[in-house]
Amino acid sequence: MNTEQPLALLGGLTPSQFMKRHWQKKPLLVRNAIPGFVPCVGRAELVALAGQEGVESRLIVDSPKGWQMKHGPLPKRSLPPFSQKKWTFLVQGVDLHHDGVHALMQQFRFVPDARLDDVMISYATEGGGVGPHFDSYDVFLLQAHGQRRWRIGRNQDLSLQPGVPLKILQNFEAEEEFVLNPGDMLYLPPKYAHDGVAAGECMTWSIGFRAPQEGELARELLLGLADEAFEGVGDALYRDPKQTAVTTPAAVPPSLAGFARQVLEKALKNPTLLDSLLGEYLTEPKSNVWFEISDLEPDLSAGVQLDRRTKMMYDERHVFINGESFRVAGKDARFLRQLADNRCLSAASCAKLSDSAREALLDWMVADWLKPAEDFPG
Ligand code: SIN
Ligand code: CO
Repeated sequence: MNTEQPLALLGGLTPSQFMKRHWQKKPLLVRNAIPGFVPCVGRAELVALAGQEGVESRLIVDSPKGWQMKHGPLPKRSLPPFSQKKWTFLVQGVDLHHDGVHALMQQFRFVPDARLDDVMISYATEGGGVGPHFDSYDVFLLQAHGQRRWRIGRNQDLSLQPGVPLKILQNFEAEEEFVLNPGDMLYLPPKYAHDGVAAGECMTWSIGFRAPQEGELARELLLGLADEAFEGVGDALYRDPKQTAVTTPAAVPPSLAGFARQVLEKALKNPTLLDSLLGEYLTEPKSNVWFEISDLEPDLSAGVQLDRRTKMMYDERHVFINGESFRVAGKDARFLRQLADNRCLSAASCAKLSDSAREALLDWMVADWLKPAEDFPG
C-alpha cells in the first residue's frame, strides 16, 4: 500500500498523516469513507452466523429491568422480534467467516497485521446499542446500514456502573455528537468514551485492533523459553569452590541465587529464540479457528493465496505462519515475505523458490492454510 497517497477512507489524509495525527491520539470522523458502501452481509446472514457454534456473538437488550446480556450461539428463535426497540446483537470475527468482510479489512493494512484484529458486526433496532463505554483498543466504526447517533467524549472518569453485565460508564459526558450514514466512519483511539445509538434499524462494522498486554506477553514468551531452556542454556552444574563452612545451613547461598539469575539471563540472551516465539505467538490462530486437512492434490501451478483465516508475518530471519516459524534467507525470504504482505504469490514466483520452500508451501496447502490463487492480481 502506498502510505503517502491520500485516501477517501481516511477523509483525504494519507495513511502516514493519519498514523501521525490520529492513531492512538485523537478521533477522526470521515464522511463518505467508502462512497456508495453496500454491505456484503445482510441481516439474515448475520443472524445465521450468530446462531453458529464456534462464532462469537452477544445479544444485548436495554430493557425496563436494565441491561441484559447473553452470549452466543444465538439461535434465531432466541432473538427478540425486530419490531421490538432497543436491542442489538454483535458478531465477532466476521472476517474469519466471510471473504467480502475479510477483503474490506485489507484496506486497513496500513497498520501492521500484528495489530489488526478482526471485524465485528452489530445489528440494532431503533434505540439499540451497547451503552456508553470505552474500549481498550483502537477501533474504526464503519456505518454499514441505516443511521447511528454517536456521542463521544474524553471522559476522565472511567468508573463503571456496578452490577451491570456489561461495561457501562457511570458518568458519561459527551463532548461531540454525530449521526453516521452508510459509508461514514469514525475512528476512536483506546479509552475514548463513546455511545452509539441506532436511529432506526442499523448495522455497524467495527474494524478492531489488538495490542499485547505486558504480563500476558511475558507469560507466553516465558512458556516458550521454558520449553527450549534445557537445550538452549546448557547442562553445566553449579560449582562453589569458594563456599565457606556455614553455621546457618538452611540459608540459601547468595552465589546460588546469582547462578539462578545468570541462567535466566542466558535463556533470554538468545535473540532469535525470542523473535521466533514472538512471531509464533502473533500468528497463533484464534481458539475458534480450525483448519481441516485438504484432500485436494496440492499444486502451485496457479500461484497461491493465503486462506482468509491464515495469519502470516515475518521478521529479519523468519517467516511465521499460523503459530509456526521457519528460518529463511535470500530469495526464499524475499518471495515468502511477498506472500505474507500481498497474501498471494504468483506461479512464476513459486517456481523460483528452493525445493524446501516449495515443499513448505505444498505442506501448507495440505494443511488448508494456502489455496491455489483464484483471482491473481496482475
Ligand atoms: C456497536 O456496534 O454497537 C458497538 C461498537 C462499539 O461501541 O465499540
Ligand atoms: Co466501543
